[in-house]
Amino acid sequence: MAQNKGFYITTPIYYVNDIPHIGHAYTTLAADILARYMRLKGSEVFFLTGTDEHGQKVERAATQKGKTPKEHADIMVENFKALWKELNISNDSFIRTTDEEHKRIVQEILQRLYEKGEIVKRKYSGMYCTPCERFWTEKDLVEGKCPDCGRDVEFIEEENYFFLMSKYQQALIEHIEKNPSYILPESRKNEVLGFLKTKPLGDLCISRPRQRLEWGILLPFDENYTTYVWFDALVNYYSALEYLAPKNIQWWPPDHHLIGKDILTTHAVYWSTMLMALELPLPRNIFAHGWWTVNGKKMSKSLGNVVNPSEIIKKYGVDAFRYFLFREVSFGLDGDFSEEALVRRINNDLANDLGNLVNRFLAMNEKYMEGIIKVEPSHQNSSPSDKEFVSSFISLIEEINNENLWDEFKFNIILEKIWAAISLVNNYIAKTEPWKVVKENPDRIPIIMFKIWDSIRIITAFIYPFMPETANKIWLALGMRDYIIDHRMLQCGIDIKEAKTEKIEQLFPRIEISKEEAAKEKEQLKEDKVEELISIEDFMKIKLKVGKVIQAERVKGSTKLIKLIVDIGEERQIVAGIGEQYSPEELTGRSIVVLSNLKPAKLMGVESQGMLLAATGDDGKISILTIDREVNPGAGIK
Ligand code: MSP
Repeated sequence: MAQNKGFYITTPIYYVNDIPHIGHAYTTLAADILARYMRLKGSEVFFLTGTDEHGQKVERAATQKGKTPKEHADIMVENFKALWKELNISNDSFIRTTDEEHKRIVQEILQRLYEKGEIVKRKYSGMYCTPCERFWTEKDLVEGKCPDCGRDVEFIEEENYFFLMSKYQQALIEHIEKNPSYILPESRKNEVLGFLKTKPLGDLCISRPRQRLEWGILLPFDENYTTYVWFDALVNYYSALEYLAPKNIQWWPPDHHLIGKDILTTHAVYWSTMLMALELPLPRNIFAHGWWTVNGKKMSKSLGNVVNPSEIIKKYGVDAFRYFLFREVSFGLDGDFSEEALVRRINNDLANDLGNLVNRFLAMNEKYMEGIIKVEPSHQNSSPSDKEFVSSFISLIEEINNENLWDEFKFNIILEKIWAAISLVNNYIAKTEPWKVVKENPDRIPIIMFKIWDSIRIITAFIYPFMPETANKIWLALGMRDYIIDHRMLQCGIDIKEAKTEKIEQLFPRIEISKEEAAKEKEQLKEDKVEELISIEDFMKIKLKVGKVIQAERVKGSTKLIKLIVDIGEERQIVAGIGEQYSPEELTGRSIVVLSNLKPAKLMGVESQGMLLAATGDDGKISILTIDREVNPGAGIK
């Protein structure tokens, strides 16, 4: 990451004609998680979000409500601000494109580009989609309709101003190729490159005649025109720094523009070339995340299935919602939201794994130590099994604290690893059996309690970006009162001698599932019971091995199949049908479980020399089996 420079992260600015939903929350939460992590690491952070308030959509929505566009925007912007508060979003600033300063800077930029000859006036005719505010060529249309929204387009002929985007086509291709993390995930980068390499890039119409669109920023060199809403909106990433960010730090270029996959072209192509024309350095990364469907269906007002984050928060709590969104799917891929899946995550991951660990430890420490923890950094009195636990724990923490994972938004992998660390502590408790030690060897109790306390403390710091409220609760319960300041959470060597823990209420009470759900689970249990039993000899025929993925790529022409090169003590090629849930990039380097003595078979013409083990959830989604601590590739599994 860049040195001596502040960390600058942005979300898209949201249209004020809509009420915020899960999609808006998703982008903003992802930015919040990374911003919080970077602050923990001691970076200066500028996290920007805001609203996009000009253009036809807003003008039309305002007219329908009998308001001026500005009155309408002033009301609607509050919905976003209120939701960000509910979601504990830690944005440093909030930009509105109707801010006077923003408007002035957009005009300055337009003037600069005009004087440089980057903007010219031309007669233009084309098919115009009013809802999308975009011109299309005949070729772009799908069955005569707008290729984006499927609605009618109209033929329009008029004079307009154009940004000469086409001349940057080659430079943009080169920039993307030279900077592999400029556009992420990889699949999105390839999409943009594919399009840039095969189609000539046109020039971008950046004006609208004022009589057709009044609600916008006037062109400084021709007041008969307003500025195209996307040109105005994209400039927010630059203008905000001029009047909203602390001045003593260098913020430009942005580290991450976080966006949804639907607005990739406007960022990767329009914005990049605008910056090239302005001779400004390009952002370090544009990350396009996937979309959420709801119970398998596209979210839409007409289907009435739009997920309102406020309602979910009221029912299940803000941190459960934050956790679910980033644990359930890989950030670059599409995901499906359902309350059942959320409840499952709450009951299993949050109540059982994390909640039980914390509450159980606090109760034990109260009982055995009257809540006192003696900090023993030297580990002198540790037993071999304590040391083994600590060393496994530390190596997992190093993996979690790998900046690349965070910088590439591999949040689901980070959470998997944090939960592996939680299991490690739970297993340590089960193995050491403090309830027996207290009777047989009470001198060891302070050491064991310290080890557990210290591990929970470190886990809490990493949970903090995802679940700040929960992390703060645990932090206080651990007796870390004076250390609540966020950026101190990650300090590993702590300089206190003693802490006093305090019992707290259940962090995540289990949620009772409905009778039907419970009946379904019972049925499943019954089915499992009547299944035919096998002998140990049968089982011994199966050779399961730990494998490390060395390389992964999609099988051409298939969305499901991924070809893996796996080290299982020897190299094997394995084809697995996991491409809808996993991307090749996130598989590389992971430890998996392989059935190694399976007869080779061909899948879509590609040989598979073994099978990767995975579970299929009720929702049909696949989850691969992994190993929760480092084990050498090729190790046998029994
Ligand atoms: N105003 C423009 C952005 C200008 S940025 C210079 C805009 N606004 S928006 O309000 O329509 O959308 C903002 C974001 O919400 C996009 O990143 C979009 O991908 C995201 N989402 C909208 N619906 C979504 C889902 N169903 N799932 C995930 N994110 C989705 O576009």
